[in-house]
Amino acid sequence: MKKVLIFGGTGQVGTHLVRKLTKNNYRVTVITRNIHEKGHKIKIMGNAGYIDLVEASIFEEKKIRNLFENADICINLIGILFEKKKGSNFSNIHSVFPSLLARLSKEYKLSNFIHLSALGIDRASDSKYANSKLEGEKKILKYFPLATILRPSIVYSSSDNFTCNFMTLLNRLPFFPLYYYGKTKFTPIHCSDLTDIIYYVISKKLYPNIVECVGPEVFTFKEILEKLLELIGKKRFLIPLPLPFANISASIFELLPEPLITRDQIKLLKYDNVITGKYKTNSDIGSPSKRFFYDEVKKYCYMWKEGGQFSTSKYIDKEIK
Ligand SMILES: NC(=O)c1ccc[n+]([C@@H]2O[C@H](COP(=O)([O-])OP(=O)(O)OC[C@H]3O[C@@H](n4cnc5c(N)ncnc54)[C@H](OP(=O)(O)O)[C@@H]3O)[C@@H](O)[C@H]2O)c1
Repeated sequence: MKKVLIFGGTGQVGTHLVRKLTKNNYRVTVITRNIHEKGHKIKIMGNAGYIDLVEASIFEEKKIRNLFENADICINLIGILFEKKKGSNFSNIHSVFPSLLARLSKEYKLSNFIHLSALGIDRASDSKYANSKLEGEKKILKYFPLATILRPSIVYSSSDNFTCNFMTLLNRLPFFPLYYYGKTKFTPIHCSDLTDIIYYVISKKLYPNIVECVGPEVFTFKEILEKLLELIGKKRFLIPLPLPFANISASIFELLPEPLITRDQIKLLKYDNVITGKYKTNSDIGSPSKRFFYDEVKKYCYMWKEGGQFSTSKYIDKEIK
């Protein structure tokens, strides 16, 4: 049974991946900063004996080093969208820590190191997030040249911070701001399609280097919002927000512990999040995305609709006794 170390395994991609790997006979060790908060969620993702949980921070090198002694594959899913104080900054998370994992993977002769980066980072040269992700990729390939770097477009699922947050906001606000007139293009990929790609790379023992991971459709930001509004059965004003106002509102959000949007994210939104043509895509390596945005969100959007669970076809036209 192959042993896989997963850093960031408690997040959206991580929980889907733990399920996928354990179902296919991989034994996983998930490293989290808070075993009490996240442990119960991960423990039920696989059969008994398939999942180990270890509490460690990215700064505990000795503890992390010990984990590599018994591992075959390392997967890094740790990522942040905004910086916090005390070491949780873009450089530490996206560059320094991944380079440590790449060095350890090399030193302990692991068969693969898979790292989650992000699509469009080489275009967005004015964004701190994008630069730190790019810097991390370079360091990883320096220390572990056979590493697989996956660059996903925006990832969605019933446990995301994207469609779920937007449906909440669209539900509550009478209008919604459009950054850059809502013209930025995205290729949203369903979380299960992304974990299928990771599993495919591991199980087929592929070393495709950098892969751009995209869903089967291209939508503008405005089209995504329109689809979500249609799915939750709401009508809202979508209003273009001039850039200076967008930046002022983002600088106010940045004062919150979990900002809805930051000035750095507004910079990222300027660039289309679509394939560049410079790298292989998930289709090129043989793992095309199979899930379509509208059909997938339809499966979980009902909680944002009038009537909640009773708005689904299961209940419509049926009397509840
Ligand atoms: N979601 C997207 O739309 C998207 C798009 C492009 C790229 N990506 C990349 O894909 C990867 C996985 O994304 P995701 O959506 O699964 O992310 P996520 O749900 O935010 O989870 C990331 C995990 O990282 C860990 N983490 C966060 N801050 C940390 C810190 N300061 N120190 C140590 N660990 C920390 C957390 O684990 P613990 O709390 O358990 O420690 C968390 O479970 C990330 O690298 C992300 O940048 C995601």
